[in-house]
Amino acid sequence: MNNREVAKLTDKYVAKTYTRYPIALVRGKGARVWDADGKEYLDFLAGIAVNGLGHCHPAVVRAIERQAKKLLHVSNLYHIQPQAELARELCRHSFADRVFFCNSGAEANEAAIKLARRYGGEHLGGKYEILTAHDSFHGRTLATLTATGQEKVRAGYDPLPAGFRQIPFNDLGAAEAAINETKTAGILVELIQGEGGINVADESYMRGLRELCDRRGLLLIFDEVQTGMGRTGKLFGYEHFGVQPDIMTLAKALGGGLPLGAMLAREDVAKSFGPGSHASTFGGNPLVCSAGLAVMKTLLQGGALRNCVKMGKILAQGLERLKERFSCARAIRGKGLILGLELEMEGAKIVEACMAEGLLLNCTAYKVLRFVPPLTITAKEIERGLAILEKVLARL
Ligand SMILES: Cc1ncc(COP(=O)(O)O)c(C=O)c1O
Repeated sequence: MNNREVAKLTDKYVAKTYTRYPIALVRGKGARVWDADGKEYLDFLAGIAVNGLGHCHPAVVRAIERQAKKLLHVSNLYHIQPQAELARELCRHSFADRVFFCNSGAEANEAAIKLARRYGGEHLGGKYEILTAHDSFHGRTLATLTATGQEKVRAGYDPLPAGFRQIPFNDLGAAEAAINETKTAGILVELIQGEGGINVADESYMRGLRELCDRRGLLLIFDEVQTGMGRTGKLFGYEHFGVQPDIMTLAKALGGGLPLGAMLAREDVAKSFGPGSHASTFGGNPLVCSAGLAVMKTLLQGGALRNCVKMGKILAQGLERLKERFSCARAIRGKGLILGLELEMEGAKIVEACMAEGLLLNCTAYKVLRFVPPLTITAKEIERGLAILEKVLARL
């Protein structure tokens, strides 16, 4: 099938929840993908920060092939070796002692919210409320869209579950003022708001939130669904901020392209989940965890993280050059290889023009071009992508 045929089939049979570009991607290698008509693209979006190691990384493909021949799924009624090994690696290299596996970012946050409520019931006198930030994004289940600080995500789903309230991002005073003595159990926050426009938390804000949560006996929950697994140049984004959460959520790049989410917690918090308190049929199955283990081992070798830091600098410098040349470019934000270029106007037309020229990226919060290429991208590929963007900006 060609692009047009796939699009026609999608239009006829698939639920219309997405606005799609008129191409069907059929093959990928590293930072490059090809569509059904054979056109090649540089991929600066990487499946929205999922393909952290690039498309079809050999270690991930090998792990999937090997596991697929052995065992795909058994359920969590039994022990699963790749799941146990991945949990061990995640705990060894983070603040956490225990991991709950699921299938997506929303489910990881759903698990974090449920754990916080149980912890609140057991240790905080029945407190249950979670504070989240304006412009945050935590997922599309009923609880996580209620946690999300964007009206457009919540619209049309009333009545929403109780127990969530939004506060301004990066405003410690507002966080303290918002705490309800009898209700608030925790604060759920992204270190860099990915969907909200690549808004980076101040280090002082994060340290302040940690201190505030300690002082007021609240749980601090980091949503690292987008920033985790090397995206910022460190394995987890919180490592940049000198603070540790009580609970953290991961997904996106964790499974190397397979659907895998995780909720990590310290033992004293994780204890509030006992047998039967939460579950997922597919969560942490042998196949996805084998892929996750390959991702984790590859990241721990260090090369991809070092490359992320180096390439992040090259990309940021290149964007800085564009900002100097084009008055429509206002600001550059981000860390490592999660970068945003804020524009004066909406970015949709630029994204479309870049795609036509062979560069995939997207736009968040209407005006912020988002760059989340594979951590393994080369300097040459970055320069090529920047040249396309420059050409498009000059034309528009
Ligand atoms: C920070 C953050 N949390 C949660 C989610 C939801 O993840 P998923 O789409 O896998 O449910 C996303 C997705 O973009 C995200 O960026």
